[in-house]
Amino acid sequence: MKRKTHMLATDLDGTLVGDQEALRALLLYYDELPYDVAFVYVTGRHLASALSLIEAEDLPQPDILITDVGTAIYRDAQLAEDVEWKRQMQAGWQPKRIVEMASAFPALHRQSLPDNRRISFTFSPNDGAVHDFEEALAQARIPHKMIISSNRDVDVLPEKSGKGNALNYVIERYAPKDVQVLVAGDSGNDLDMLTLGYPAVIVGNAQPELTTIEPHPRLYHAQKNCAKGIHEAWLHFYGS
Ligand code: GLC
Ligand code: MG
Repeated sequence: MKRKTHMLATDLDGTLVGDQEALRALLLYYDELPYDVAFVYVTGRHLASALSLIEAEDLPQPDILITDVGTAIYRDAQLAEDVEWKRQMQAGWQPKRIVEMASAFPALHRQSLPDNRRISFTFSPNDGAVHDFEEALAQARIPHKMIISSNRDVDVLPEKSGKGNALNYVIERYAPKDVQVLVAGDSGNDLDMLTLGYPAVIVGNAQPELTTIEPHPRLYHAQKNCAKGIHEAWLHFYGS
């Protein structure tokens, strides 16, 4: 990635993926550019689920794959896990206590995941359970970050994780100093990476939780959906 002057750091579901024709057109556009673009996928999915989507949609192999809402980073062709990031995620992380406390909120349905690097649930909208659970975690002083997406998913993550922190780490550690970035997303778990200060796009089909975001000159609201919205924003920021 060191030689790539540009980087597309994008969410997958509902952002890069969602309109196959637009996706193919975007990839062709990137192929024909006179400079190299690094692909960093930043997803809420776990590794196996992200890999099956990459295969099903025939996406380019990413330079870096950030999974599980920023709690895991995999890099290079071998997709080796970044052990330093993993170590940072484990500091102060108390998944057992979080699961125990969640059992008091039957409206939260635990997602079945391959490991405990995050504890995620689905919930029914307009139920106070998420708010009460958050309050209980805060009162018990359990370090965490809670992220709500699409009025459906709630992720409880290590305090220093999240897509934004993970992407910042990747850029600082693995990208050239003056890399030209575009960050793209469509739902709540993308919020912290969209507001890092890099050029960013909220695609046209974004969830309502992103439409109230503070305006910012480097935050572009695309008219178009999914990959078409990314394309629109790339032309806006980087021309031609
Ligand atoms: C993806 C993941 C899910 C997570 C959600 C929100 O849908 O599969 O586990 O809760 O993103 O981050
Ligand atoms: Mg998404």
